[in-house]
Amino acid sequence: MTTYSEEIKLVARPGEIAFPKGLEGVVVAESTKSFADGLGGKLVYHGHPIEELAEKSTFEEVFYLLMHDRLPKGSELEETTQLLRRDREVPPQVYALVEELAGVRGVHPMTVLRTAVSMLAAFDENAEEDSPAADQRHAIQIVSKIATLSAAIGRVRQHKPVLRPHPDLSHAANYYYMLVGEPPDSFTGRLMDVLFILHADHESNASTFATVVVKSTLTDTYSAVVAGIGALKGSLHGGANERVMAMLQEIGSSENVEAWLDQAMAQKKRIMGFGHRVYKTTDPRATILHSYAREATRRAGTERWLHMAEKMEKIMVEKFGQKGIYPNIDFFSGVVMASMGMETAMFTPTFAVGRSAGWVAHAWEQRQDNRLFRPRFVYIGPETEPYLPLPERH
Ligand code: CMC
Repeated sequence: MTTYSEEIKLVARPGEIAFPKGLEGVVVAESTKSFADGLGGKLVYHGHPIEELAEKSTFEEVFYLLMHDRLPKGSELEETTQLLRRDREVPPQVYALVEELAGVRGVHPMTVLRTAVSMLAAFDENAEEDSPAADQRHAIQIVSKIATLSAAIGRVRQHKPVLRPHPDLSHAANYYYMLVGEPPDSFTGRLMDVLFILHADHESNASTFATVVVKSTLTDTYSAVVAGIGALKGSLHGGANERVMAMLQEIGSSENVEAWLDQAMAQKKRIMGFGHRVYKTTDPRATILHSYAREATRRAGTERWLHMAEKMEKIMVEKFGQKGIYPNIDFFSGVVMASMGMETAMFTPTFAVGRSAGWVAHAWEQRQDNRLFRPRFVYIGPETEPYLPLPERH
């Protein structure tokens, strides 16, 4: 008979050993990058309130802040901006992969993005270099090129020619240009930057945690980010934004919101864009995007999405507010991105472009003081099972 010696404490009958499912409330590491105050509805990146960064900062500056734990001086910002610009191009073989896959019916753009980022590693001749300097270089490469890849995927999906990076535009403006086909006006350019800033980091969210776990094996940062993309794609995480839009499309008009919600609640459906593991009040990023949504929908003539979303928010807060279920970032981001001319399926890849900053910053942080992540499962399987010969198994 198998014996479990000192491990016996982790062998149990189902329900016998209590543990926080989904690691709720479990602290897994220290981090200097960001903090979400779930009860106060606040978010800071290294001490800087998200509202202030959304008002005054740029994606390039926030990327530097997350990597280096301080705002850059003028020359440092200039250098980061130039590095991000220099690395925008991707190898022709990776463009070819995107051309091949992104237009295939039923292939999700996040699947293409995940595959393309993985392929980038094969063309980075220093991908296997294991040093702090290499990690810094890989971080820049990934954050810069993921924007090019995401935009190219969007273009191929629309049967439009892929646009090469524009050398004179900021990271956000260049992304918009490559995706939509023309440089943004000043409002849209600012909004693109705000979207990237708001999505850049969110402490130990599922995709960042996945990235950090993978990095803790001392693998390369590309591998870690590929894990992050895979996690972000899920409907409970970054994939929620496109489902919010699908939901609004299904509802169709403001008049239908209440009846649709009543039915959804009766069927115990999860309402996309609401609820959060940490925030038990409105996600501060949703508040910022809600205010931008007013101008974005007015310009695009898409106010009906906003009116539906506002009605939905009101009813949801009345019915679920006491349970701590409020709008999260994905609720208004869809309305905003749709009003900027983005296809619904490109919402999550756009989220990934912003979040790549947080992924590489946390991977970098993990490397500074690494210990392999290796938690335990409580074993609730049988203690011993006989090995039956094949014909006897039913
Ligand atoms: N609609 C209806 N009920 C909900 C929702 C929702 N959106 N969110 C949570 N609940 C209920 C859930 O049914 C459960 O009820 P009960 O206790 O009666 O069984 C209770 O609230 C707790 O739910 P949980 O799933 O255990 O809570 P969690 O902390 O794991 O949930 C969440 C976090 C984000 C997975 C969840 O709120 C959810 O599924 N939201 C919809 C998807 C979504 O918008 N995701 C984006 C998250 S924020 C940004 C990002 O990461 O991309």
